[in-house]
Amino acid sequence: MAKIKIAIAGVGNFASALVQGVYFYKQEKNDGLGLIYENIGQYTVDDIEFVAAFDTVKGKVGADLSKAIFAPPNNTMKLLDIEDTGIIVQKAKLLDGLSQKMQDILKIDESPEVDVIQVLKDSGADILIIMVPSGAPEAAKYFADCALKAGCALINTTPTSIACDPEFTNKFLGAGLPVAGDDIMNQIGSTILHKNILQILTDRGVKVKESYCLDVGGGNESLNALERARKIKRTYKTEAVKSQLPYEFPLVAGSTDYVDFLGNTRDSYFWILGSIFGNAPIKIDIRLSTVDSPNGFAILTDVIRGVKLALDRKITGPLESVSAYGFKSPPKKTTIQESRVWLEDFIAGRKPN
Ligand SMILES: NC(=O)c1ccc[n+]([C@@H]2O[C@H](COP(=O)([O-])OP(=O)(O)OC[C@H]3O[C@@H](n4cnc5c(N)ncnc54)[C@H](O)[C@@H]3O)[C@@H](O)[C@H]2O)c1
Repeated sequence: MAKIKIAIAGVGNFASALVQGVYFYKQEKNDGLGLIYENIGQYTVDDIEFVAAFDTVKGKVGADLSKAIFAPPNNTMKLLDIEDTGIIVQKAKLLDGLSQKMQDILKIDESPEVDVIQVLKDSGADILIIMVPSGAPEAAKYFADCALKAGCALINTTPTSIACDPEFTNKFLGAGLPVAGDDIMNQIGSTILHKNILQILTDRGVKVKESYCLDVGGGNESLNALERARKIKRTYKTEAVKSQLPYEFPLVAGSTDYVDFLGNTRDSYFWILGSIFGNAPIKIDIRLSTVDSPNGFAILTDVIRGVKLALDRKITGPLESVSAYGFKSPPKKTTIQESRVWLEDFIAGRKPN
């Protein structure tokens, strides 16, 4: 069975959850706990293997991937110890990768930058996953270009527009490569929960009058989102929630603040005001508390396996089904329920992309 060879651009908290999660499932072979799909086509999580990784920060660059995922400032949950993988994190161009605040806290590694395209080619990577911080469009686009030039499929977990950018999608079509994105959606995060609560209210005849959902977190990503990507995150999250409902009402969804002692925990506060029969009011006030990075794991592994199926089937350009299922800002938006149907139709070969 062919393995799925993955290269990672940005060894932060999300990459830590991905690497740890893959090793966790390799060790606990029969434990599909927490996964949405044990199989996507013929692929299981066990088929994912890492072949290259890039970062810029001292302590991560030059370290084995198994150690770099735990290097500061990464602070997500530790699930297990991993033996050396033989994959050494390589130095990439910084570009706009780190905000000034992050650069004040961190040291940039001083070793020379590698030729990312050549490393990707030599590693035999099938897919490059962009996991650089929010608010780093230059870095994200740089890696998208490298994937194109190295002949790798692309997954863009960041909010930079790549799978929705016609210039990029045309290039991926032209290069005969698939691309999925943008801005991955968590397994049970604020976006999916907000969409589902609003959906059940609408299905049960409630007229929603106003709603917001705001997040507070303590990971580096929350700091970055606050400093550099607050507006784009808010737009993507609000648009994602809006796409679930047949009518408009005042709606805000997004990140709101950084509280360092929360670590990689994210608290999401939901408020919904509506009315039911006789204009009787209904109010919902909820707090959801999650650990951010592991919350993206199950969806990302589904997306990885979906993109590999596209590669196997020589499907090129933006992947509608995989992106609608796994991302907040996909090339073609739909409801949560329909995105799942699209994904399963794609896996079964009933939907072309
Ligand atoms: N569940 C989730 O974790 C989740 C959900 C939705 C979206 N995302 C997206 O995933 C991305 C990563 O999130 P995270 O929590 O791991 O962030 P993070 O800040 O912990 O990690 C980002 C990593 O990228 C590195 N980096 C910065 N510039 C770079 C460059 N030029 N080249 C290579 N590496 C570079 C940083 O040093 C850091 O190690 C973000 O864009 C975020 O919006 C994650």
